[in-house]
Amino acid sequence: MLFKPLKIREITLRNRIMVSPMCQYSYEDGFSNDWHFVHLGSRAVGGAGIVMVEATAVEARGRITPQDLGIWKDEHIPNLERVAKFIESQGAMPGIQLAHAGRKASIFRSWDARKGACDGKDGGWRPVVAPSPIPFADNYVVPEVLSIDGITKITDSFVKAARRALKAGFRIVEIHCAHGYLLHEFLSPVANKRTDMYGGSFENRIRLPLEVVRAVRQLWPEHLPMFMRISATDWLEPQGWDLEQSVMFARILKKEGIDLIDCSSGAMVPNAKIPVGPGYQVFLSERIHKEADIMTGTVGIITQALQAETILVNNQASIIVIAREFLRDPYWPMHAALKLREGIKWPCPYHLASPTPEDCG
Ligand SMILES: Cc1cc2nc3c(=O)[nH]c(=O)nc-3n(C[C@H](O)[C@H](O)[C@H](O)COP(=O)(O)O)c2cc1C
Repeated sequence: MLFKPLKIREITLRNRIMVSPMCQYSYEDGFSNDWHFVHLGSRAVGGAGIVMVEATAVEARGRITPQDLGIWKDEHIPNLERVAKFIESQGAMPGIQLAHAGRKASIFRSWDARKGACDGKDGGWRPVVAPSPIPFADNYVVPEVLSIDGITKITDSFVKAARRALKAGFRIVEIHCAHGYLLHEFLSPVANKRTDMYGGSFENRIRLPLEVVRAVRQLWPEHLPMFMRISATDWLEPQGWDLEQSVMFARILKKEGIDLIDCSSGAMVPNAKIPVGPGYQVFLSERIHKEADIMTGTVGIITQALQAETILVNNQASIIVIAREFLRDPYWPMHAALKLREGIKWPCPYHLASPTPEDCG
């Protein structure tokens, strides 16, 4: 199953392996650069079916760190286009995750010894925005509450960013509605204490993510897929966003033209108890896949070829999404193919190292 092509709308993936979106925190003013090109290009060369570009900020204030990738202005398009074109030239589908960090914006990057909010002298900014004035943690910024007008502008930023992504040649757009960032903040009663039409009931909390999906789907071509990444649970029952709500949400998203739910979890609060281990999020994908009857991706400590294959054979997901193991091994699909005794074409310049040197491409 892992190497069986998969058709979504009018595009065909060469296999069911996706490079998970992974921030590199290595850019200036949001511009894609040589690191980005080589990093993602290598994983396309390595045989992935989809290479999903990391959380890409739809507004400058929606970056997680000052070094995030961005798509908030037209000037960002040419460098991104170079990346998308190369990925596709290697037989992988280029995707891009559009994101707004909400109350988790303006922090130091992960390997900085300083933690939490960074301010102007370190490239940070104020205000950061969110549904309610509740900081993510004590060392994060207290966010400014978005007005109704401000919320409308967020949708507009996603639309403009999607238009740029299309222009840059991406074939799949993924809306980031997970990990405690802005759209997830609206979903979760933990971060959303609003009393207007964007807070309170389930219908009100899903309103903004749904408006974003509707607006982006209108411009994203019929023949191209649209994904949504969610945190399927906050791991904070009973007060948080949970799997029951995710299933209901997924049914609605399917009707709105979302093709696949990329099922992650957590990151709404710093200290949720999460039973982390190999494939620990597979059950979330399985429930959503089966109960909402929609394609899903599963992610989280999937490192072994047979593990990935078993998930697909058991119908627990439609695609396998891999993050850190792809950092350890850009050629993971080639190695997985060897283990599963599957034929996979290696790039021709590498054919002399391949098990089937005569069959490259
Ligand atoms: C360096 C790094 C950067 C990440 N950046 C993003 C991101 O931009 N968007 C996102 O949705 N998840 C991001 N994640 C989460 C991963 O996509 C993935 O869900 C998580 O690492 C679990 O998968 P794994 O066990 O295969 O690493 C990141 C993870 C890592 C390690």
